[in-house]
Amino acid sequence: MKRIVILISGRGSNMEAIVQASAHEAWPARVVAVISNRPQAAGLAFAQAHGISVAVVDHQAHADRPAFDQALADAIDQHQPHLVVLAGFMRVLGDAFVRHYEGRLLNIHPSLLPAFPGLHTHRRALEAGCKVAGATVHFVTSELDHGPVVMQAVVPVLPKDDERSLAARVLVAEHLIYPRAVRWFVEGSLCLQAGVVRQLEGQPQFLLAQPSGSVLATG
Ligand code: GRF
Repeated sequence: MKRIVILISGRGSNMEAIVQASAHEAWPARVVAVISNRPQAAGLAFAQAHGISVAVVDHQAHADRPAFDQALADAIDQHQPHLVVLAGFMRVLGDAFVRHYEGRLLNIHPSLLPAFPGLHTHRRALEAGCKVAGATVHFVTSELDHGPVVMQAVVPVLPKDDERSLAARVLVAEHLIYPRAVRWFVEGSLCLQAGVVRQLEGQPQFLLAQPSGSVLATG
């Protein structure tokens, strides 16, 4: 049984999607801990209610980034995870932290990377007049929102969209691709070579929304 630790900062809906999928699809893995850098993170209650160990490593209680990163790594390593999943975790992690989890640290970013790394992705996509937007699951490297792409989802940008409606459409797609990518990892069906990730069974590593933006289909 593989052990997964999920890091959150807030709502935790991606974490929920992963916990639900792991249970319903009988993965050879379970989420052993959910750790937040914010004591008030709403997602902690869901994890607790599902019998998952929860912890808070408050970034404000640490003098600097290296001290926070070390405390976070200590909290994570207690669970000896095979995989660490960043799910709406809103702190930048330092090089030493990233190196420590190299090859077993995944993130989701609500844009079609390498476009729009960083904050306010939906606003920036709208301002740029993009006709599609989406989300990317990737292995984490020391460059922010950068790293080998595991899976991407593409959704349309509709003429009446504002930041909120676009974020909501992208989030539906996030909840589909993140559990799938995590499942592939724990099943051992991802191969990372020369910065490129392949799904060894040839399953599509993208997901396209229908033009209406509502129903999503792969392949
Ligand atoms: C998601 O859109 C994620 O991609 C971004 O922040 C949001 C977190 O949502 N980094 P949640 O906490 O998973 O509900």
